Amino acid sequence: MPEEVSELSSPVVVTTIAELRERIREAKQAGQKIGCVPTMGALHVGHTSLVDQARQECEFVVATIFVNPTQFAPGEDYEKYPRPLKADVQKCADHGVDLVFAPSTEEMYPKPGITFVEVEELATRLEGVHRPSHFRGVTTVVAKLFNIVQPDFAYFGLKDYQQQLILRRMCDDLDFPVTIQSCPTVRDEDGLALSSRNQYLSSEERQTALAISRGIFAATDRLRSGKEDVAQVQQELHASLESEKGLALDYAVIADAHTLESITQVQAEMVILVAARVGSTRLIDNLPVSLSSLES
Ligand code: PAF
Repeated sequence: MPEEVSELSSPVVVTTIAELRERIREAKQAGQKIGCVPTMGALHVGHTSLVDQARQECEFVVATIFVNPTQFAPGEDYEKYPRPLKADVQKCADHGVDLVFAPSTEEMYPKPGITFVEVEELATRLEGVHRPSHFRGVTTVVAKLFNIVQPDFAYFGLKDYQQQLILRRMCDDLDFPVTIQSCPTVRDEDGLALSSRNQYLSSEERQTALAISRGIFAATDRLRSGKEDVAQVQQELHASLESEKGLALDYAVIADAHTLESITQVQAEMVILVAARVGSTRLIDNLPVSLSSLES
């Protein structure tokens, strides 16, 4: 562990599975409920909002910080992904994290893994089309983290909507005794969804990126009227993003909120999902649209 990180008084930072297990054993023996916030670091308010929710619901909060190589394809941003560990630990301290688990790649993968966790169907849509090996890396590392931390609750952002759906399904199918809590996306005042990758954007690119949330909000308003032709709303969202200079659209879809299958008619639980590249930065955003909650 870098010296400047080990010098910080709180929270405790551990880098080995053995140390982590020892701390968890003590917390469990003390009857404490364990909340886990898995992250890849470069923490922002989206992450700390997850920690805040965990802090409210659990007596012992663990944040994991690990840039997981197996969820990046060759040519993606694994090498350049930001790793400001000292600042991350400080943010964890500020938000009352009890334990930070920041393992090395060798600690997590001492030998190349030949065992994987794969959620079919859900993981082959949308992000799965554009990043075919991504979710296998995510589910495998999160399964490993759940086995290591053994949390009662785990906290994920709705910003990665497909990811949290897949992780819920993994827990259901494989009987992980973990309750997944999906927490609201945090946005900057201008609407841009917070992401560790936003720091790659130049100010001009950032202006271009705003078209994504603008388009999603406009589509949401139309769906909320309950009378719109979904295919038409989707087509217009798609066209508006396709015509945005400097933005290369991967997808703009309105889907069933549970299965992520495309829909053409309004229904109670929908989600609008967009992925696009602005310059060399790939951004995703989404907004669940619930007409049932409007009625209640
Ligand atoms: O959402 C993320 O930051 C990562 O995909 C996760 C869940 C920490 C797994 O590496």
